[in-house]
This record gives sequence, C-alpha cells and structure tokens, in this order.
Amino acid sequence: MIVDKINRLKAEKNAVILAHYYQEDAIQDIADYVGDSLALARWAAETDAEVIVLCGVHFMAETAKILSPHKRVFLPDMNAGCSLADSCPPEAFSEFVKQYPGHTVISYVNTSAAIKVLTDIVVTSSNARQIVDSFPVDAKLIFAPDRNLGNYINSVTGRNMVLWEGACHVHERFSLEKILELKKEHPNAMILAHPECKSVILKIADHIASTSGLLNYATKSKNQEFIVATESGILHEMQEKNPTKTFIPAPPNDSTCACNECNFMKLNTLEKLYDCLKNETPEIFLDAQTIEAAAKPIRRMLELSDQLGL
Ligand code: 13P
Ligand code: SF4
Repeated sequence: MIVDKINRLKAEKNAVILAHYYQEDAIQDIADYVGDSLALARWAAETDAEVIVLCGVHFMAETAKILSPHKRVFLPDMNAGCSLADSCPPEAFSEFVKQYPGHTVISYVNTSAAIKVLTDIVVTSSNARQIVDSFPVDAKLIFAPDRNLGNYINSVTGRNMVLWEGACHVHERFSLEKILELKKEHPNAMILAHPECKSVILKIADHIASTSGLLNYATKSKNQEFIVATESGILHEMQEKNPTKTFIPAPPNDSTCACNECNFMKLNTLEKLYDCLKNETPEIFLDAQTIEAAAKPIRRMLELSDQLGL
C-alpha cells in the first residue's frame, strides 16, 4: 500500500512530513504534523529530521528552507503556488515601498522569499493582529500583500496601515448570497471566516481567525453547527476533533460545487508525495544571501510570537 511505502521511505531517509490543513484528507492523515502557516514554520525551524517534505504550497516550503537551510526541503508538486503570493511581485513591491519612506514593512507569510527580503517583520493570520498592536499607535506601517487581512487588522486595531492591493482567489470568491441562504436553512449555525475573506463576508461572521484559530474556536464552542468560510480542507480536522458537530463548507459564487478548494493546495497527492520521497525531487533551493536576509523578518516574528505567548 502507498501509505506503508511512504512510511518506510520516511524512516529510511529520516524525513518529517509537515502538512497544511488545506491538504487532501489522505495527506493530512499520513503527515507527522498538520497545522497552520505559523505552526508549519515553527516545526520546520525545530525539527531534528534531515529531510522536510512540506505538503502545502511553495511559500511554505520556502519558509521551511529559510528556517532550516542545512536540511533538504521537498515540495511534492513544484507548481503548488499561491495566487496571493503571486499578487505581490518583488520589483513592483520594491517601488511601492520607496513611495513610503520611514515606514515599517509588515508582510504576511504568504509571500515569496524575495518579498521577505524587503520586509521588517513577517506575520501569519494567527499573530498579525497582536504583532501590529505591538507597534506604537502612531507607527507608520505598510501591510502586504492581502488587502482583506490588512483592512480587517486596520479595523480591529484602529490603525491606518498602507495596504498593498493583493488577494487570494479562493477566499475572495465566497458568495454572500449563498452563505445567507445556508444560514436560513441552518439558523443555529455559527459563521466562521478566515480574515482573507472580503469584508462583506467578515461582517456576517460570528468568529474571524486563522485556520487553527477557527478549529480551536469550533472545538471549544458549545454550538453544534458551523458554516465555514475558508478552504474546505480544514473541515477534515474540524470533523475529526468534533465528531458530533456539523460543519458546512461555505460555497463559492462561481461554481456549482458546494465547497471552495484551493487548486494549488490540491496539486499535492499521496502519489506525488511518494515519488518526491523516493526520487528526492522537487527540492527547494535558495541562495545563501536570500536565506540570510529572508530569515531575519521570519525569526523576528517567531521570537515576538513566543514573547506574546501566541
Ligand atoms: P493560515 O495561516 O490560517 O493557515 O492560512 C494560510 C493560507 O494560505 C490561507 O489561505
Ligand atoms: Fe494561497 Fe489562497 Fe491557496 Fe492560501 S488558499 S495557499 S492564500 S491561493
């Protein structure tokens, strides 16, 4: 069976499999750790394994390589990109930053290494609010690349950060009308939303948080039903941790499908994971200068998150 073959190879090569919640169920089931972007970065920085197979998207594997440069890092499908990371090209961003002298650059982890090099501190959706709040109220801040997350943080922290106009194609396509219809059918359901969703969706949400934040909230809540507005892969772990509760994926506006999937995340499969461990490719490579410069804002985030108890 492919699962046994993967486990054998993993042991032979002293590899660890790290997976994001948006991966297909079979990958989440075989992974050593399943978590959000912040947890993946922490595990990548701390693991003793010689090889990291990052089942997620390219920026996550790149972050793992930056934090563990002496380890080999593999991504089962090199085409697993991210529309949000792609919405912030380094040359254009560098010009943008020049227009705001004296500003601190805060970047969401969903960015390329080249953007991280231009960044003062990285954030994830698990710690963005608290990290922004750690700056003085009158600090001049740039936030990139997600405009929805940036607007949300501006609204909850009372800041006026300059925003880069990027977005995630998955979180932008949730349908307000379809979610409201679902809410009529399930009046007791709570609406949970990721802050990458548009403000019209966030306005009707009962709780807004990162993937792990939504999972923890649903697990602690006494409520029995939830409409979940983030990539539908998270429902696997939500259901596993809460077998008696009902989780309904929020639908997108542009398809007949009831759930919203990230086509990049779903490029990774068990077969590709097996091939990647067996053939030791595709591998992430970065030059030493980029690693050194990009590590600073990521390490600054990890240190501050630890200090803040996040
Ligand atoms: P989290 O950090 O909440 O896991 O989000 C990652 C992501 O890609 C959201 O689209
Ligand atoms: Fe990127 Fe959006 Fe996919 Fe997350 S869901 S990896 S932000 S494209």
